[in-house]
Amino acid sequence: MKRLVVLASGEGTNLQAILDACASGEIAAAVVAVVSNKSESIALARARQAGVPAIHVGTAPVSVETRGEYGARLADAVLAWNPDLVVCAGWMRILSMSFLHHFPKQVVNIHPSLPGELRGADAIRRAYQETRLGTRTRTGVMMHYIVDEGVDDGPVIDHVEVQMHPEESLDALTERMHVVEHRLLVETLAHLCDNGGPP
Ligand code: GAR
Repeated sequence: MKRLVVLASGEGTNLQAILDACASGEIAAAVVAVVSNKSESIALARARQAGVPAIHVGTAPVSVETRGEYGARLADAVLAWNPDLVVCAGWMRILSMSFLHHFPKQVVNIHPSLPGELRGADAIRRAYQETRLGTRTRTGVMMHYIVDEGVDDGPVIDHVEVQMHPEESLDALTERMHVVEHRLLVETLAHLCDNGGPP
């Protein structure tokens, strides 16, 4: 059984998909800890509900702690769980090299856009807005490794294209994207945990 540490900042619907797939055996792994930078995140509540250690590693003002120092502190918290994979599932902070150098090719991220497009926060909303303006006909979801401090960038493991529907509401698009995200995330992790290699 592979050991997963999940990093999550918010709602945790992707975390929930991982927890459910580990419980059902679809992913041959256990979530050994969930770490959040937000003490009130629903992700931490979901972890507690599932009986998984829920750990808050909060940030401090940059005058007190640099991004690199935070990364080293976050790495200490994650290393304690000896993970095979670190999964960013709605983790909304850039991971610094002081964190990443501890986990070579062990950190994966899900992001709701096609590779090279709509990096950063609110990618679904931005895809929606561009469709409204008539400048976008499709978006997507990708899984990639995080190997450096590039935002939502790194060697792509897999991606799925999603067609935009011009009349669709933002809520409906968000729901449709989440379904695609959860499936891609579970299938990718199932493959990585079974075979140790990308699909
Ligand atoms: C998801 O759409 C995830 O792909 C995105 O944040 C959302 C978190 O939802 N991640 C990023 O934008 C990373 N740059 P969740 O908390 O319900 O899983």
